[in-house]
Amino acid sequence: MTRHEIITGHVLSFTEDPFGIAPAASVTWHEALLIRDGTIIATGDLDTLRQQAPGATLTRHDGCLICPGFIDAHVHYPQTAIIASWGARLIDWLERYTFPEEMRFADPAHAAAAADRYFDLTLAHGTTTVSSFCTSNTASVEAFFTAARARGLRAAAGKTCMDRNAPPGLCDTAQSAYDDSAALIARWHGVDRLCYVITPRFAPTSSADQLAALGALWANHPDCLMQTHLSEQIEEIAWVAELFPKARDYLDVYETFGLLGDRALFGHAIHLTAREASRLSETGAALIHCPTSNSFIGSGLFDIGRRLAEGQRIGLATDTGGGSSFSMLRTMAAAYEIGQLTGTALHPAQLLWLATAGSARALHMGDRIGTIAPGMEADLVVLDLASTPAIATRHARADDIWDAIFPTIMMGDDRAIRDLRIMGQPLRTG
Ligand code: GUN
Ligand code: ZN
Repeated sequence: MTRHEIITGHVLSFTEDPFGIAPAASVTWHEALLIRDGTIIATGDLDTLRQQAPGATLTRHDGCLICPGFIDAHVHYPQTAIIASWGARLIDWLERYTFPEEMRFADPAHAAAAADRYFDLTLAHGTTTVSSFCTSNTASVEAFFTAARARGLRAAAGKTCMDRNAPPGLCDTAQSAYDDSAALIARWHGVDRLCYVITPRFAPTSSADQLAALGALWANHPDCLMQTHLSEQIEEIAWVAELFPKARDYLDVYETFGLLGDRALFGHAIHLTAREASRLSETGAALIHCPTSNSFIGSGLFDIGRRLAEGQRIGLATDTGGGSSFSMLRTMAAAYEIGQLTGTALHPAQLLWLATAGSARALHMGDRIGTIAPGMEADLVVLDLASTPAIATRHARADDIWDAIFPTIMMGDDRAIRDLRIMGQPLRTG
């Protein structure tokens, strides 16, 4: 049976890239949208849509902001239980908190419970798509995709590959990383709305042989994404230079082994040389900005204005559990704050774009999700713009739509999530 639904509110529809023109001019506002069988088929005023679909059910969210579901372009779902762990920088943080936790995912029951918990949290915060690192154990990948599929999500993930500089219980080999990843691609890539991401953790935890094996795997599956970490902390960069003395720089390690291309996603990418920045923009790889993580682990300030001027493809992400929040609202606020510290005041349209269309473009999913337009999948989040007393007080003083939205970006959390749709449907649980 065909199902039509009209939803009213401030429907945010990007018609342009807000970094290419005056940000406010990048958006067309609509009074309502029309969904048929999980797909957005029209936007416009309520009367017109009612004439177009007289039998449609009507859901009114007048005064609320209707956005594409948030897209978190870099997360570690297995780190959910160690978020907000105190007092360490990256390498120490990995050894002290992350690796012990990731060991627990060899147990399929633990992995399944963690994946369910993770999606409960992210969906409660309005995030409908993530690209996640799993652990080196394949059970963690099974758990992720099973939970995402049960909820009908468009989701991306991969087995984290590492064969050195990690506890033996977490290490694979070049061959097993290739074989296990290939088997997971065969099993999950393209199933329903799922996509597989080839996932070397980062250069220090992979041998040259393993990076070469994963480069070969990617060459055999060029439609997969590839995700890893790049130039997050100064100590890490020095370590990479010791481990790969022939490389020109950190990015060169990945490029040497076939791990650079327009479907590559590089988390953090804070401390780039001029050569790295120009190779990244030439190849069209995406830089994933993880602002709460970059502050929390003490990594540094991602200079978004500079990267935009270079024409980089940029996505936005929580990087949980290195990041300190599951909320893409909090993450937009942190991106705004770090923008202020680096001389770029991001407009609310730009922040919302990064968390939706920008991340979708980074993940090469921009033709399906991340924008409210006819033909797009109806993954939506509806935001109450006066969800707490403090936000409501500020909202009452707003003098235009952007001023009405910005307090929710800066101070909002899961209490702002009024409604959420996955392919037009309210949430299913796993
Ligand atoms: N670099 C390598 N692994 C990780 C990780 O799990 N989190 C972060 N933030 N950086 C990393
Ligand atoms: Zn990460």
